[in-house]
Amino acid sequence: MFLSHSELWRTYWEYVSRPYTVLICSFTAALCYMWGRTSQTPALISSKAFSAFLHKYCPVVTEPFNPTPWCWGGRIQTLVCAVLKSKLPVTYRNELIRTVDGGQISLDWVDNRDSATYPESSIRPTVLILPGLTGNSKQHYVLHAISQATRRGYRVVVFNNRGLGGEELLTPVTYCAANTSDLERVVRHVKELYPHAPVLGAGVSLGGMLLLNYLARKRTESGMVAGFTISAPWNALKSAASMEEPLNWLLFNKYLTSGLCRAVTKHRKVLEKVVDIDHVLKAKTIREFDERFTSLLFGYKSCTDYYHDASPDSKLPNTAVPILCLNAADDPFSPQSAFPLTTIQSLPNVALLLTAHGGHIAFLQGLFPRGESYMERLFGQFAQAAFEHPKDLKKACGMKEEQSS
Ligand SMILES: *[C@@H]1O[C@H](CO)[C@@H](O)[C@H](O)[C@H]1NC(C)=O
Repeated sequence: MFLSHSELWRTYWEYVSRPYTVLICSFTAALCYMWGRTSQTPALISSKAFSAFLHKYCPVVTEPFNPTPWCWGGRIQTLVCAVLKSKLPVTYRNELIRTVDGGQISLDWVDNRDSATYPESSIRPTVLILPGLTGNSKQHYVLHAISQATRRGYRVVVFNNRGLGGEELLTPVTYCAANTSDLERVVRHVKELYPHAPVLGAGVSLGGMLLLNYLARKRTESGMVAGFTISAPWNALKSAASMEEPLNWLLFNKYLTSGLCRAVTKHRKVLEKVVDIDHVLKAKTIREFDERFTSLLFGYKSCTDYYHDASPDSKLPNTAVPILCLNAADDPFSPQSAFPLTTIQSLPNVALLLTAHGGHIAFLQGLFPRGESYMERLFGQFAQAAFEHPKDLKKACGMKEEQSS
């Protein structure tokens, strides 16, 4: 028996007109449309030769990046990532080293003595990790990076920003993105311990700024074979402005400023010798904190001076080792308007991988983004490429063979 044309139409209409069907269908369609639109291969800004190297040894750069569909926008990516990421168990060996000003730096080592690939400790490659503002070796992104490095047989050392690694502050000196003295001290120490082991620097957010500033200052004397950054702000003034937009202030800036203030309170006894602590603690934004604290501590005339000195965008041409940077265009901490695209295009040794979505240190992919994330895989592949194909990498970046690293 056949339904007549009009009956068929009526049955069909009865079905689709059910409110929930319409709702579910339009929701799914909208989601598919948005997801389809967001799934794109990230842009790779680099020289032809560096790009060819990355295509060969870091195939993740050729994959499309699908942001988690329910994490809509950079802010949500950033927030969800901070809440959701699993904390992997990592056991550190802590070491305190002294500095010329009488202070101390807390290093957290993962020696990886069971490394099957590099059983000989003296040549075991070392990844030096620099955490972000208010961060230390306990951050989820540090733990995940360690898992990538140790499974490949490498050693890891985390450089905790002064005052944040559980150590006592012995002098009224903390840390900032422009002052590379502590990092220089740390790299020298690592090279003294293992002169024949290659070192890769990996900096996240503020740690990325510090790493880039260091590489620009030390040029061919950096002691590193390569550098890698995640979500590094390129211009501190533009970042501060973005972070002061009302929603960003409410979601991130306020929280980070109170973290900065907590650290100052913890070390109040030492710090009150040189700054007005009560005035510092009234800071409502990172910029106010830097005005009242960081720029004073490091002898800047103004916070603007400090921010100018801390910005890696204009210093990139001084760097001399291969550097891969990952940024998202919707990162509220590191606005797209500050990405030094033209500079990077003109440099043989710097590559910028740019995703449309991904937020700040998030890059969540897939429906349930708890597994290995995009930034972790990129880091793991690049570390392996730098340690295992150093000659190819140097050649791809237009460096001479005999150049010391
Ligand atoms: C870093 O700061 C310390 C303490 O203020 C200072 O002695 C040192 O010269 C600074 N280093 C650089 C590279 O600016």
